[in-house]
Amino acid sequence: MEPSIENYIKNLVRDAILNLQFQNDRQTYVIANWKMNKTIAEASEFFQNLNGRQDVNIVVCPPAPLLYPIQLIIEQFKKPIGLGGQNVHWEEKGAYTGEISTEMLKDVGCEYAIIGHSERRQYFLEDDAAINGKVKKALKAGLIPILCVGETLEEKNLLQTEQVLSRQLFGALKDIETSQLIIAYEPVWAIGSGQSATADLAEQTHAYIRSVLERVLGKRAESISILYGGSVNGENAADYSRMPNIDGVLVGGASLNAASFDEIIDVFAKGEPNK
Ligand code: 13P
Repeated sequence: MEPSIENYIKNLVRDAILNLQFQNDRQTYVIANWKMNKTIAEASEFFQNLNGRQDVNIVVCPPAPLLYPIQLIIEQFKKPIGLGGQNVHWEEKGAYTGEISTEMLKDVGCEYAIIGHSERRQYFLEDDAAINGKVKKALKAGLIPILCVGETLEEKNLLQTEQVLSRQLFGALKDIETSQLIIAYEPVWAIGSGQSATADLAEQTHAYIRSVLERVLGKRAESISILYGGSVNGENAADYSRMPNIDGVLVGGASLNAASFDEIIDVFAKGEPNK
């Protein structure tokens, strides 16, 4: 065989093996974003009623004042559940009234932090540079960022989805070299609207997101879990779980009720063996 052809084939095989290794590292997550909902008593009732299977990564992101009480509740009920903040600041500490630092999140038992949620981009005017600062700070502190990206209805109608996602990903991941993060694709038009993206559309967009991640991070992008979020419920979760590039879900409304959150968890716990 010609040496050039032999090398070409060897490289193909090496890449395929590398891809498989990274794919096998990919974890499945079912993550609750409670937004600005629940008191301590309501949270306690929720965890009392939640089954929460062990064979999938479950994370709950409650409002900040509930983080420590929930940490205690999870310990008491011995639930295999991770804890995440809904936001984090890019500075270590200081005069930033109303903000929360990575150290504070870690102090109360958080392993994750949602960053760049569209509601924060919309209501609190977070831009890609601020989000990049937050992702960097979270990674430095050993928190796993759950980076949210997604287009608005207007951008979708203007066929700008890929352009928006690419800008958001390149902006948020500027100067970042690790794949120790989770991406959540949350089309803004699907959030809280009852109009979820079809599984086919979500899969197609996730594949695009993975291709952008590959441009930023190389082959390591294969190991990054990309979750879908936007009107996920017990009925549509199964469709998402069958898609090769959808590695779980980020759930708002349906995560507020233990029974409906359990339904979604069960779907992903029974997910395809190759995930
Ligand atoms: P809903 O599931 O209520 O549409 O919210 C999605 C979301 O924003 C999760 O972060």
